[in-house]
Amino acid sequence: MLTKSDTQGRYDAVWREAEPYMRARKNDVHIPLSYAFAQALLKLHPEADEDIVSLAILLHDIGWWSIDMTDIIEKGFGPNMMQSDVRFLHEKEGVRLSREVLANTGWPEHVIAAVGEIIDGHDTRPEPRSLNDRLVRDADKLWRFTVTGVAVASDWFKLNPNQYVERLDRQFVLLETDDGRRMATEELEKTRAALMLHLI
Ligand SMILES: [Fe+2]
Ligand SMILES: [Fe+2]
Repeated sequence: MLTKSDTQGRYDAVWREAEPYMRARKNDVHIPLSYAFAQALLKLHPEADEDIVSLAILLHDIGWWSIDMTDIIEKGFGPNMMQSDVRFLHEKEGVRLSREVLANTGWPEHVIAAVGEIIDGHDTRPEPRSLNDRLVRDADKLWRFTVTGVAVASDWFKLNPNQYVERLDRQFVLLETDDGRRMATEELEKTRAALMLHLI
């Protein structure tokens, strides 16, 4: 999905700086996929801020690095998961680590602050604060609808792909934009076909 202009390397230093923190909770798969959705959404919303959205999606989940993987699965995906302590902690840690990563790669304070504002509460704050925030929220969720997202997250939730896709069917209401909903519909259709969900 990435086009030439997305790959010119504007954020390469940030990817490299954040890399150690991405080796948790399959974020090294989630983040590149969600980043590609963010780039697609940015093309449809030129009024959004490309740097803020790109950097926020890239860094939004690096806070999971600070949390034990057993706790992530048991508390982060258990009952009341969106309000669990580990959810809040991964946001707080994400703000702290994103500040470090962006400062080390030379981004100015106003960008660091704007990115941190989106990361803080990206899972737990009921309402988005801006268009940038809305696009990041949609990009964050859209990877779930892909074959890869289903493969990874069905294990987290201890469901089979068919059961997990049933759960995804109820998540369209969580998407913020019409473009996000359209992309999710398209991805889910491809995923159902690829995984033969009409049969198994
Ligand atoms: Fe998150
Ligand atoms: Fe995420």
